[in-house]
Amino acid sequence: MTDAAARAAELRRILERANHAYYVLDRPEMSDAEYDRIFQELLELERTHAELRTPDSPTRRIGAEPSPAFQKHRHLVPMLSLANAFSAEALTAWEERNARLVPEVVGAGYTLEVKIDGAAVSLTYEDGVFVTGATRGNGIEGENVTPNLQTVLDVPLKLQGGGWPQKMEVRGEVYLSKSRFAQLNREREQAGEPPFANPRNAAAGALRQLDPKITRARRLRIFCFHVEAPGQKLPFDTQHDLLEQLGRWGFPVEPNHALVPDLPAAHAEITRLEALLPTLDYGADGVVVKVNPRALHAELGTVGDREPRWAIARKFAPEVQVTKLLDIRINVGRTGALNPYAVLEPVEIGGATVSQAALHNADLIAAKDIRIGDWVEVTRAGEVIPQVLGPVRERRTGEERPFVMPEKCPVCGSRVEHPQDEVMTYCPNVSCPGRVLEGIVYFASRGAMDIRGLGYERVRALLHAEFIENVADLYDRDRVSLARLLTLDGFAEKSAQQLLAAIDASKSRPLSTLLFALGIRHVGAAGAKLLARHFGSMSRLAKAAAEDIGTIRGIGPAIAEAVAGFFAEPRNRKLIARLEKLGLTMTEPSAAAGEGGGPLAGQTYVITGTLPSLSRTKAQELIEAAGGHVTDNVSKKTTAVVMGADAGSKLEKARALRVPVIDEAELLRRASGKQ
Ligand code: IVH
Repeated sequence: MTDAAARAAELRRILERANHAYYVLDRPEMSDAEYDRIFQELLELERTHAELRTPDSPTRRIGAEPSPAFQKHRHLVPMLSLANAFSAEALTAWEERNARLVPEVVGAGYTLEVKIDGAAVSLTYEDGVFVTGATRGNGIEGENVTPNLQTVLDVPLKLQGGGWPQKMEVRGEVYLSKSRFAQLNREREQAGEPPFANPRNAAAGALRQLDPKITRARRLRIFCFHVEAPGQKLPFDTQHDLLEQLGRWGFPVEPNHALVPDLPAAHAEITRLEALLPTLDYGADGVVVKVNPRALHAELGTVGDREPRWAIARKFAPEVQVTKLLDIRINVGRTGALNPYAVLEPVEIGGATVSQAALHNADLIAAKDIRIGDWVEVTRAGEVIPQVLGPVRERRTGEERPFVMPEKCPVCGSRVEHPQDEVMTYCPNVSCPGRVLEGIVYFASRGAMDIRGLGYERVRALLHAEFIENVADLYDRDRVSLARLLTLDGFAEKSAQQLLAAIDASKSRPLSTLLFALGIRHVGAAGAKLLARHFGSMSRLAKAAAEDIGTIRGIGPAIAEAVAGFFAEPRNRKLIARLEKLGLTMTEPSAAAGEGGGPLAGQTYVITGTLPSLSRTKAQELIEAAGGHVTDNVSKKTTAVVMGADAGSKLEKARALRVPVIDEAELLRRASGKQ
């Protein structure tokens, strides 16, 4: 193989991998700038070496294959992409090329439109009604995501006015505002979920959710800019009138578009728009220049069915700043993963001060040849997330040090592990203070046990005071009590009481929530639900072998192994036993009860004393399986107190509050539904 052939193969492999990570996994592993650079290098190689233009090159398919989970949607007219002009000269060259084909373009006028950085969609309207919404896919065929697009509040479901063709496809860009993006990431961080890399990705991911409720919760927006209606008459002759008409029909149109008479005026207007882009609340990655008269569009035609000649994207280099990489430090995550990050001399980029940037893993640092002490180029991916592009090699003094992943955990000193098939390095010590802190914060986060008021700062304080070492200690009133909390900074009587109440309230979360909160590797919210529904109780799950767990639909071997491994660990068994003793719920309301059924649905019971046949746990399982709840304290809301032998003060309280008192036989009768 020639050098060029080898390089092309390598570039394709990198691009395919990045495409997969981006489109299929929804987890980008390189910045757009980096992807673009590699893509450009491959394009250039293919341009100069005709023999390297293979049919499977990523340069041939801009975009992703439709996911098998959605129905395919064939676009009436292919969704094209745009050529880029990275400079004013490139834009002038574009007009010159066009003028050789169609001389009338000179002076015919151009529209300038903000190029929204989101996910391209096509909306089909029949008789003025929104009938189908699709992603771009490979341009020919996308995915039918109609229910998701219906959740985008500014997509008109029925058009206003009149004059539309019987069937038309309106093209637009779905996006997430910068402010909504920041808010979502704050929420995700609190819930212990990985943040979105950028608004574009969060928008694209939201569109491809199988559950439209998730799409809706992201609060996507849309701007529209193009119409296709093959063989039908449209009530406009220019691109500018098209935009105005879209507005009248009720589509959101980006408000900063402009109409200019010629190219010199376009250059001036582009300069104005470039300055405007960073101030907008939505990501914009350039300005689209379009020939205004639509009659000329047909004459100009397309380049290889891929790009129209009548439009081009004027792109601006993202703001890149050079600053000093002071250090590479490591944060130890909940799973023990050692996450390296750059400590930078603070620098302002796009209106925000950047002083840290994630570096992901040692391989990536080595691939970019980033060394401690380097001057590095830093940008903000999607105008948001700080990113180190690479070193400025010319400024090296020889003092720079390559980064080596430590052999010992920087927090606890344990020897780290680097599994063969993974890029990450892990601290294996489950008691590592770094892991413990992250693990407890995760346990308490929203989406997990949802203990309000228990974030990083307070967990750190509780650990530091040695009140807690693990999550069970939170529930132990000898360790975390009102009196003890009041000795800590930042607690007053009221806030301490609120925290204790929030901790107590979390005891009644179902097994699925507890399983998720424990942070067992590979066990997400959905997996935890499946496990809890199948086994019903912690004790049954703990006894299950990996092979049995793996037979559940939706649970793969990795989850099964991780779960069995978790319960095989004596330390974990001890923790679970303590949580149970401290009164946490160890069962899952049955699926039927979960859907609102069950004879005890909506009822709350308190158990006191020793019941004749049922253990406390069994009685609780029984009530929860029938859709009811069990709590520790009697209140006016308690449905009934189940009384056994040697009942204590709860019985008196029940009498005082006039809460019914029943025995085990009555409980069994109620739970069986024979009332
Ligand atoms: S025109 C034939 N106009 O940019 C029409 N595209 O690379 C081709 N985009 O994914 C598109 N804002 O979704 C056009 N004002 C605008 C746009 C725009 C964003 C997106 C478009 C496509 C990509 C083209």
